[in-house]
Amino acid sequence: MDFKLTEEHIMIRDAARDFAKTELLPGVIERDEKQEFPKELVKKMGDLGFLGMMASPEYGGGGMDTISYILVMEELSKIDASASVMVSVNNSLVCWGLDTYGSEEQKKKYLTKLTTGEKLGAFCLSEPEAGSDATSQRTTAIDQGDHYILNGTKNWITNGSSADYYLVIAQTDREKKHKGINAFIVEKGVEGFEIGPKEQKMGIRGSDTHSLNFNDVKVPKENRIGEDGFGFKFAMKTLSGGRIGIAAQALGIASGAYELALDYSKQRKAFGTEICNHQAIAFKLADMYTSIEASRHLVMRAAWDKDQGQNYDLTGAMAKVYASKTAMDVTTEAVQVHGGNGYVKEYHVERLMRDAKITQIYEGTSEIQKIVISRGILKD
Ligand code: CAA
Repeated sequence: MDFKLTEEHIMIRDAARDFAKTELLPGVIERDEKQEFPKELVKKMGDLGFLGMMASPEYGGGGMDTISYILVMEELSKIDASASVMVSVNNSLVCWGLDTYGSEEQKKKYLTKLTTGEKLGAFCLSEPEAGSDATSQRTTAIDQGDHYILNGTKNWITNGSSADYYLVIAQTDREKKHKGINAFIVEKGVEGFEIGPKEQKMGIRGSDTHSLNFNDVKVPKENRIGEDGFGFKFAMKTLSGGRIGIAAQALGIASGAYELALDYSKQRKAFGTEICNHQAIAFKLADMYTSIEASRHLVMRAAWDKDQGQNYDLTGAMAKVYASKTAMDVTTEAVQVHGGNGYVKEYHVERLMRDAKITQIYEGTSEIQKIVISRGILKD
C-alpha cells in the first residue's frame, strides 16, 4: 500500500480546502441556525466538479479515484458537514450507483445532469420501520406491465426537498424477501409524490432532511435499476462505498475540531502560560491527534481497496465505525479545551460536536458496521 498523494490529489485537496475556507466558512453558523443551504453554493460545488467526482467522464463525471473523493470530503467536512453530506450522497450513493448499475439510457438521461450539479440526487432506503433492518421494506412497487405503482413512506432522506432525482428502494414481491426488492429512479414533481416536512435536526442542520410520501406514483419500467429483484444488492453495494465517504466526513469533522482546539490552546492563557503548556491540555491534543491519524489510515485503506478493485465492505465498515467514534471523542474534547467559549456558536466546535453524532448513525449505525465487520472476519 502506498498512501503517498499524487500531484493531482494535492491539487484537488487544495481546491476543496480553499473553497471550504472562502465559500463555506463565512455563512456556516447562519446556515446551521436557519437550517438552509443556498442553491448558489450547490452550483459552485458542481462547477468545481465535487458532485460527480468518481463518475465516468463520458457522463460528465470527473473519472477520479476514491482517494481524491475522500480528500475532498475531509476538507469540506472540516468546515461544513452539511455541504459534505450533499457531496457524499450525490457522489457515492446516487452517481456511483447509476454509473455502475444504470442502463445506457438512464446514464444519458439522469447521470449526465447529476455529475455536473445541474440536478441533485437523493437515496431513499430508510423507512419509519426499516432503518437498520433494510430488508423489511414496506414501500411497495407493484408491477403493472410497462410501469410500476409505488406506495409508501421514506424517512430521514438527505436532500429530501432539494433533490431532483430520487433513487427509491421498494418491495415488489414480499414473498421473495430481499430478492423481491427493486430500485427505481423517481423524478421530482410526478403525480402522487409528496415531500413531507423538514426534520428539525441536532446537527448537519444546513442539509435538508425530509420524509417522502409515495401515493400511487407511476414509475416507467425503464426507470428500474438492474434486473428484477436487484434492488437490495444495489442498496448494499452503494452503501458499502458510501460508508467510506461518511468515514471521511467523520475524519474531517474530527480534524476540523482538532485544528481549532490546537490554535485556541496556543493563544489562550491560564495560570501564567498558554494552556497548551499544561499537560492536562497537551495530553488531550496528543490523544486527539493519534486517533485522527489512526482514522486517516483506515479511511485511506478502505479507499485504496476500492481503487484497487478489492473488496471494501470490511475495511469501509472499520473506517466508518472508528472514524465516527473519533469524531465524537475529538469534538467533545475540543469543546472541553475551549472551556466556556466551546459552548457558544462563534467558536464552531459546538456545531462540529453536534454534526459528529450523525456519522455514527446514517449509512448504517455503528452497530450495523460491527455486524458487517464481524461477518467479514468470521466468514472463512
Ligand atoms: N454487497 C453485496 N451484497 C450484499 C452486501 C454487500 N455489501 N451485503 C449484503 N448483501 C447481500 C447478501 O449476499 C444477501 O444476498 P444472497 O441472499 O443472494 O446471498 C443479501 O444481500 C441479504 O444479505 P443479509 O442476509 O446479510 O441481510 P441482512 O438482512 O442480514 O442485513 C445488513 C444485512 C448489513 C444489516 C443490512 O441490512 C444493512 O446494511 N443495514 C443498514 C442499512 C443502512 O445502512 N441504512 C442507511 C440508510 S441510507 C442513508 O443513511 C443515506 C443518507 O441519506 C445519508
